[in-house]
Amino acid sequence: MPSLLYVTRRAHFSAAHRLFNPSFSDRENEAVFDKCASVNGHGHNYYIEVTVAGEPDPRTGYVMDLKKLKAIIDEHVIAHVDHKHLNMDVEFLRGIIPTAENIAVACWNQLEPHILNGHLYAVRLYETEQNFAEYKGEHS
Ligand code: NI
Repeated sequence: MPSLLYVTRRAHFSAAHRLFNPSFSDRENEAVFDKCASVNGHGHNYYIEVTVAGEPDPRTGYVMDLKKLKAIIDEHVIAHVDHKHLNMDVEFLRGIIPTAENIAVACWNQLEPHILNGHLYAVRLYETEQNFAEYKGEHS
């Protein structure tokens, strides 16, 4: 049984969001999302950590060249979300409530087709230093 290793790249973006469900009343939105439902939104300094699992290539010692992983994250996530309003400006987040959970899943879907060495293992999306959501793909 070959041994799997895990490599992770961390990246940062700043963005605004508003948490609300358009099918809720104003009162329900406030009860569920509290300050995060405020009408004009608010900002976060987000971090995303992308973990790829695989076996090191015996020729390079790399599971995946992290410079390549950085470039994939920049092109398919950061360029779309940095300094944007996540409810309005981002095609791949359209129609979802931009919680850390939902952003993590959407970023997974953006990244997964481009990971060709090893496989995407986890996406962690930090909304604050204390709070993050982690997605590891669909259950098989
Ligand atoms: Ni928030």
